[in-house]
Amino acid sequence: MDKDKIYILAIESSCDDTSAAVLCNDVVLSNVTASQAVHEQYGGVVPELASRAHELNIVPVVDAALKKASVEKGQLSAIAFTRGPGLMGSLLVGVSFAKGLAASLGIPMVEVNHLQGHIMAHFIKEQDADFKAPEYPFLCLMVSGGNSQIVKVNSYKEMEIVGQTIDDAAGEAMDKCAKVMGLGYPGGPIIDRLARLGDPKSHTFSKPHIPGLDYSFSGLKTSFLYTLRKLVAEDEQYVEKHKEDLAASFEATVVDILMDKLYKATKQLKIKRVALSGGVSANTALRQAFSDYAKRYGWEIFIPKFGFTTDNAAMIGIVGYYKYLDGDFCAMDQPAFSRTTI
Ligand code: KG4
Repeated sequence: MDKDKIYILAIESSCDDTSAAVLCNDVVLSNVTASQAVHEQYGGVVPELASRAHELNIVPVVDAALKKASVEKGQLSAIAFTRGPGLMGSLLVGVSFAKGLAASLGIPMVEVNHLQGHIMAHFIKEQDADFKAPEYPFLCLMVSGGNSQIVKVNSYKEMEIVGQTIDDAAGEAMDKCAKVMGLGYPGGPIIDRLARLGDPKSHTFSKPHIPGLDYSFSGLKTSFLYTLRKLVAEDEQYVEKHKEDLAASFEATVVDILMDKLYKATKQLKIKRVALSGGVSANTALRQAFSDYAKRYGWEIFIPKFGFTTDNAAMIGIVGYYKYLDGDFCAMDQPAFSRTTI
């Protein structure tokens, strides 16, 4: 076996995506994800159904990742897994699977924080693809369904939250806005699609006035709900007739709120290297705003590839690889955890 080649099998099961990836050092060989359509009919993730679906998916997804990478179980150097934060029932499936497999193969385990994984997605190399990772320190806007944070990243293991939401996350706000309009789940991609056809200046929603670098999205959610109620009272068909404009205006408000604090953070911390991470980083208007700010303020920006924006195991594998190099392994008795910061 080639000693310079470290093969990591990574497992991610924190919410409603069962994902497995195989990395050779910092290069991803496979990244296989099974999403769970079962939640669509409920307008949100149902934890009990999510854990059952993980249980069904985990073996075929891991098999597929190994096959796609052309790596045998016996070649694996370690197993990296998401230990938290996330839904406990979902996490338990991935954590228990990782423990069982690591024990049977006699190889070490590496625990990974899901949020650290999202940020470190910028360091995943792909075979034969151009690649530039951010130099440390950099700022990362981490926006997902459960988190909205501005993080100062000093190294893969030294991360400092400089601002975060005091209530809802940006993705949660997008999902709730779509739900109120009766558009389905997850709402973020639907809002994104509709917004491309609408006028972002057609409606105005209130923005929060939170001191410092923290975010708040619950006021915007209420403002959207009250505006909609008033408009629907005047015309029952209002949402159907104006859903593109509503989506565009709501999305533009979320993006303004996010970028405003991020800009303040770059000024305050005097850092112009800025990365975007998490599920909401797939959003077209947010990506565009990043490019616009880069041009206007001379930022060096890092926007992840679509495959590395939402939950995936490759981002867990890259942290696993760095921790492996540091000999930072975890014991069998480490439990999953549902809540934490980085
Ligand atoms: O990071 P992620 O996959 O899961 C966690 O929350 O950890 O993020 C999911 C969130 C959901 O709220 C989803 O609606 C949002 O990301 N999202 C988007 C887009 N794609 C996914 N929001 C806006 N525009 C998108 N294109």
